[in-house]
Amino acid sequence: NTKKLLVTGGAGYVGGVVAAHLLAAGHRVTVLDDLSTGVREGVPEGAEFVEARVQDAAKVLDSSYDAVLHFAASSQVAESVAAPEKYWRNNVAGTMELLAAMREAAVRTLVFSSTAAVYGEPVTVPITESAATAPTNPYGASKLAVDHMITGECAAHGLAAVSLRYFNVAGAFGRHGERHDPESHLIPLVLQVAQGRRSEVAIFGDDYPTPDGTCVRDYIHVADLAEAHLLALDAAGSGEHLVCNLGNGSGFSVREVIDTVREVTGHPIPAAVRPRRAGDPAVLVASAEQARTRLGWQPRRTDLAEIVRDAWMFTQSLGEGDA
Ligand code: UFG
Repeated sequence: NTKKLLVTGGAGYVGGVVAAHLLAAGHRVTVLDDLSTGVREGVPEGAEFVEARVQDAAKVLDSSYDAVLHFAASSQVAESVAAPEKYWRNNVAGTMELLAAMREAAVRTLVFSSTAAVYGEPVTVPITESAATAPTNPYGASKLAVDHMITGECAAHGLAAVSLRYFNVAGAFGRHGERHDPESHLIPLVLQVAQGRRSEVAIFGDDYPTPDGTCVRDYIHVADLAEAHLLALDAAGSGEHLVCNLGNGSGFSVREVIDTVREVTGHPIPAAVRPRRAGDPAVLVASAEQARTRLGWQPRRTDLAEIVRDAWMFTQSLGEGDA
């Protein structure tokens, strides 16, 4: 069944990949993006594009839409510590306006891009959706506030919503890849070394209580992540707020990631141990059980080498000026 969908933030990395998957499944897609971090080329072919802030969603939304997938957000942890007000404005206030516009237009289905950062330092691993939420930075706090806002909207006004809490999204899908400025994410940084744009990679701490002393993360391929969003469109009933972690359920250490990049690229990748980065939990690994049972979702690209290979192809496709 073809749906008419609004994708906020569809010019960004994850939003663009999801929009491409929605179009491939035969849905009609309008992308709303202010291009503050997304790029015009990130909007997939076949989508209608509206350049506007999420606060202005009311100008686009009407009752002909079946659902909204909401990705538009600020998403850099370090920036959120330096400028928390930006996160409350863009993520929290922005979503409040979006929910009002959805209510007004009687669009009653929402899929929200949440994050593992809502859990903070986990008490037990793998992390289930019932784990305590104690974010360690304003980015995670802002996403958790939105999750609470959505819970209330479902209960009071009959919204059907799914919050998907991403672990470490990685890999690429066609011309949609991960790119931040400044870059802070491990895999893109290591690939910049392989490309000769950076002389070495820093390992932030090797004295964590993990097998090799470096932090362990759950890396999930962006295309697997996208497939979960399609399933989420039909997963919640009116008044329900379903929350699902999205991860592979297995972890890789920083050293394992660097070794995999060495294998995939053939580059020696010089690495230097540096002090721990503030706020980094030792281990973040998802329980993907809820996504399996409630969405019928099964990640298919769980091999780290495959994830890195796709990211490497994307990195190599970037021109010199695109850094
Ligand atoms: N790391 C390094 N060197 C680097 C960059 C990162 O050793 O140059 C390490 C980090 O310390 C961490 C791991 O690599 O242990 C992964 O770091 P990333 O910055 O790639 O990702 P994070 O795990 O910090 O963050 C991810 C998402 C966030 C989200 C968070 C959930 O990118 O948006 O998971 O906790 F908030």
